[in-house]
Amino acid sequence: MPFKNIESEIDNKYVDIQKTFINKIYEINKSSKLKAFLKTYGCQMNAHDSDKILSMLELMGYKVTFEENEADLIIYNTCCVRENAENKIFGHLGYLKNFKKLNKNLKIILCGCMMQQGTIIEKIKQTYSCVDIIFGTYNAYRFPELLYTNIETGESVIDIWKDHRDIEDDLPYKRTIRHKASVNIMYGCNKFCTYCIVPYVRGRERSRSRDEIIKEIVAIANDGVKEITLLGQNVNSYGLGLKEKVSFANILQDVCKISGIERVRFMTSYPNDFTDELIQVIKNNPQICKYIHLPVQSGSNRILKCMKRGYSREEFLNLVYKIRASISGVHLTTDIIVGFPGETEEDFSQTLDLVKEVEFLNAYTFIYSKREGTRASIMDEQVPESISRDRFNRLIYTLNSITKKIMKSKLYTMEDILVDGVNEKDDKFLMGRTDSNILVYFRGHKELIGNTVKVRVVGTKTFYLNGEVL
Ligand code: 5AD
Ligand code: SF4
Repeated sequence: MPFKNIESEIDNKYVDIQKTFINKIYEINKSSKLKAFLKTYGCQMNAHDSDKILSMLELMGYKVTFEENEADLIIYNTCCVRENAENKIFGHLGYLKNFKKLNKNLKIILCGCMMQQGTIIEKIKQTYSCVDIIFGTYNAYRFPELLYTNIETGESVIDIWKDHRDIEDDLPYKRTIRHKASVNIMYGCNKFCTYCIVPYVRGRERSRSRDEIIKEIVAIANDGVKEITLLGQNVNSYGLGLKEKVSFANILQDVCKISGIERVRFMTSYPNDFTDELIQVIKNNPQICKYIHLPVQSGSNRILKCMKRGYSREEFLNLVYKIRASISGVHLTTDIIVGFPGETEEDFSQTLDLVKEVEFLNAYTFIYSKREGTRASIMDEQVPESISRDRFNRLIYTLNSITKKIMKSKLYTMEDILVDGVNEKDDKFLMGRTDSNILVYFRGHKELIGNTVKVRVVGTKTFYLNGEVL
């Protein structure tokens, strides 16, 4: 079946118009008890988009299921950062074709970063006719309208925007944990690191206005949210392009003043935009968690230059020393890529040295993935997979031994834990997180959920702590 291309007139009332489509679909679905399955790939921003999609699905009368094979609507929110994730999606689509034979009313929907690439859309159009709806990252809020069009016409619908257009981001979203929420403060990226496809698919940096962000957080704080995570590809370059002169440090301070907000987190920070002002604001505001995600990518100056990261190993280390000297007890996490084109054993050993020097609490580790259209994709000396994998394993081993050591240093310390919920494996135990985002399990009553309790650490594992409520 041919795909119907939808190109619409936009005005800022568009989000309201979507509510009409939500109601129409609810009326169609209300007696059918339909189920929806959603799978998210990639980063926290994608996870946050998925929370919005889930909320729309529930408003449209779908019950969310975790069993893909019993769903009447399957939606994949995709990521394009690495080729592997893309291949997985294509693999799944092959398998989903069979689901359609069993349930001919099944809707298969694809959205997210991967859909912002023309070559991907062409491949889906030509090979995967089982897909009913495709939309991209700029227009997720139009999902109800696209679904309604598909239900009414029976035609497949594709709606990809090449550019961002100013749309208020005020969709409702489903919070998995009632007292925690994420808020987008900026979108896109201007850095163009040579390996990364994000600037091509997510577009140039755009910051939401200060008023809009604060209004959103005040509303969710009034609805019981105590912990906020501010999201963006480069949160600390917040403010670019806004009429008002406002920095990320300003926004953080504003958020700390909102009544009911006990914890503030943020991700991701770009090292070069980590200002002294920002360090002081983190130091002086107890609500801001002493936990900073600061991607380094490599410990080798040569590779950092080829990646066009804009800082040297020494500059990164100086920033770490400055942060540690000002903010006591701060924990750092990072992103690291191994096997970037031309990376030698010597370059890699400098990454290992840097990791040992900084003692990151944790790291997201990636094997370099060649992304078409990026500058690194045409660089010589792509590193063979077997070498990258070996370096990857050695990196993980080093990181884990550091994490273990940091976790051991927590034994018998007192931690403030915001209680998130019950341990799924044993409901006599609760779980929550420290200020530095470490997971802790402890015995306790469900009534504590949503409160902050003092816990003494009585046992340590590599990725969590065991505690006792005092
Ligand atoms: N290959 C491997 N890892 C990548 N990342 C971004 N692009 C690539 C790529 N082509 C990693 C970086 C970034 C994180 C979100 O994903 O470490 O910080
Ligand atoms: Fe990609 Fe670099 Fe932008 Fe991060 S800063 S999103 S790695 S281009």
